[in-house]
Amino acid sequence: MRIGVLTGGGDCPGLNAVIRAIVRKGVERCGHEFVGYRDGWRGPLERDSRPLGVPEVRGILPRGGTILGASRTNPFKEDGGAERIAANLEADGVDGLIAIGGEDTLGAAARLHREHGTPVVGVPKTIDNDLGATDYTFGFDTAVNIAMEAIDRLHTTADSHHRVLIVEVMGRHAGWIAFHSGLAGGANVILIPELPFDVERVCEFVGRRFESNYAPIVVVAEGATPVGGMPEVQEDELDAFGHVRLGGIAHWLEGEIERRTGKEARATVLGHVQRGGTPTAFDRVLATRFGLHAIDAVDSGRWGTMTALRGTDIQLVSLDEATAELKTVPESLYSEAEVFFG
Ligand code: F6P
Repeated sequence: MRIGVLTGGGDCPGLNAVIRAIVRKGVERCGHEFVGYRDGWRGPLERDSRPLGVPEVRGILPRGGTILGASRTNPFKEDGGAERIAANLEADGVDGLIAIGGEDTLGAAARLHREHGTPVVGVPKTIDNDLGATDYTFGFDTAVNIAMEAIDRLHTTADSHHRVLIVEVMGRHAGWIAFHSGLAGGANVILIPELPFDVERVCEFVGRRFESNYAPIVVVAEGATPVGGMPEVQEDELDAFGHVRLGGIAHWLEGEIERRTGKEARATVLGHVQRGGTPTAFDRVLATRFGLHAIDAVDSGRWGTMTALRGTDIQLVSLDEATAELKTVPESLYSEAEVFFG
């Protein structure tokens, strides 16, 4: 078979590990050929590809980013997008696609399969860990470890200067990175998009922490909002999947906390540092296993499915089911961390 591979949406550590596993097993065990489509859905839309064989995937296991490039191109926002993809796959002699992506890329894959019969298998990736059908997505563990290390470092400088340090992490709709890094890093307040926060209560936690002679660390997800307030939006423009660019809540909190407590506060926005660099061992193993199972799915003609981690097993779930709803942090889980607040 000749199989197209693409990586869409925001990049994350582990994408190259999946690509390597797909190609190594696909070529060496199954005799497949691969076409590497560039920049997510833009590749098959514009028939832009690069060779993808065993030599091309040598040495990429530990490398962050994606050798195929990524974009947020939405085929359903392009004129005749689905038809152009079908025609280009045929012209390239491609029998099926493996699409590696998050909710947007896989949502488009599900729709292409459902409405146009495109033969596609999905592999879930995102640092946000917000895909419902899988226990974890790769990229998340690396992002959490990066954020945790930042929090560890911020504790010591916060204590030296008796300041409140506020760390803004990624997470538009789901606070998984904030919750896990905050819990692992011993944050004194964790704020997530799922639960609007009361800024007065945040200030109480800040005051309580100072009473113990230590300085507070507040971890806030970029999509977190004060009760009755709006997220801090950086740009009014929407991307092709209808998302605004968030960011700025940490700076807003900096001002509010200083004003209400009289304590000095400083914001640190981790941004894309969370998405860059080498994947953790957990992410490399998960990404590799997803890649190996994606080839099995292709071989058995299980189009319209996605690899998913369930416990320690990799299973195939339908793409429609996988993209039906976002996985958010449940209130009961969040409340487990509250004993450490303040
Ligand atoms: O979906 C992954 C993610 O990193 C989100 O956590 C974040 O909100 C968004 O992408 C940032 O997107 P971009 O890199 O396009 O600014």
